[in-house]
Amino acid sequence: MSELRPAILKIGGSVITDKSGELAARTQDIARLAEEIQNANVRNLIIVHGGGSFGHPIAQKYAINIGFKEENQKVGFAETHHMMTVLNGLLMDALIWRGIPAVSVTPSSCIVTKKGRIQCFEKAPLTSMLRMGFLPVMYGDAVLDTEMGFAILSGDQLISYIAANFNAERIIIGVDVDGLYDTDPKIEKNAKIFTHLTLNELKKLQNKLGKSTSCDVTGGMFGKIVELIPAVEKEIPITIVNATKPNYVYKALKKEKVQGTLIEKE
Ligand code: IPE
Repeated sequence: MSELRPAILKIGGSVITDKSGELAARTQDIARLAEEIQNANVRNLIIVHGGGSFGHPIAQKYAINIGFKEENQKVGFAETHHMMTVLNGLLMDALIWRGIPAVSVTPSSCIVTKKGRIQCFEKAPLTSMLRMGFLPVMYGDAVLDTEMGFAILSGDQLISYIAANFNAERIIIGVDVDGLYDTDPKIEKNAKIFTHLTLNELKKLQNKLGKSTSCDVTGGMFGKIVELIPAVEKEIPITIVNATKPNYVYKALKKEKVQGTLIEKE
């Protein structure tokens, strides 16, 4: 597998949905990002997208992230997963319509977690797809869990796992702000952006970063940072860019200079 060294692109739920609403897709941004992905034409790319207002509000309503406690959560699990497939379908439409051989890989069908952490991941479909030159698209999902019954798997845990296990070349994370800040830029006007961070600096930040401002069952920016540490430890560089700004994702995919935060081991 190591010969393929895929690049991983995470598209945050806050980019492709309006996180303050419910089931509010940003269809124009989805179309624009699909076009940028088409134009960049990166070989061996894996896309993972978040849930935004298609994932978090329903997961929160049924407390899916605390695991199975009562029978009526089951329909909430089903609904959470289903709405993720609906959001995924919108992105798949936009990619495939542009002639990209994108194939959706449903996390709940190939991953089982243990206490919320990926325990088993059936790698064969993803490996074969990359070998064949397909573009696998995964997402944060409601998944089965050996201890909790079920859990929410964040797109960020997923990219970190895929990066480590598929020996990724690099990770690009598209969010709705310009990069990583010392405090939440949506609350603090004077938040300071980090343009470059080493692993040690990132670890120090762990305790400082605030939680996402809107409803997020997987931990907001704080959760994202913690998840990224194992990938950075494996010397996989991470670029965080504002995916709501036209061509930022394109430039990052093309390895062109772009405003954002670069995280590297040293
Ligand atoms: C969440 O995935 C998925 C569900 C709640 C089902 P993420 O945690 O990766 O989503 P965003 O990017 O924060 O919206």
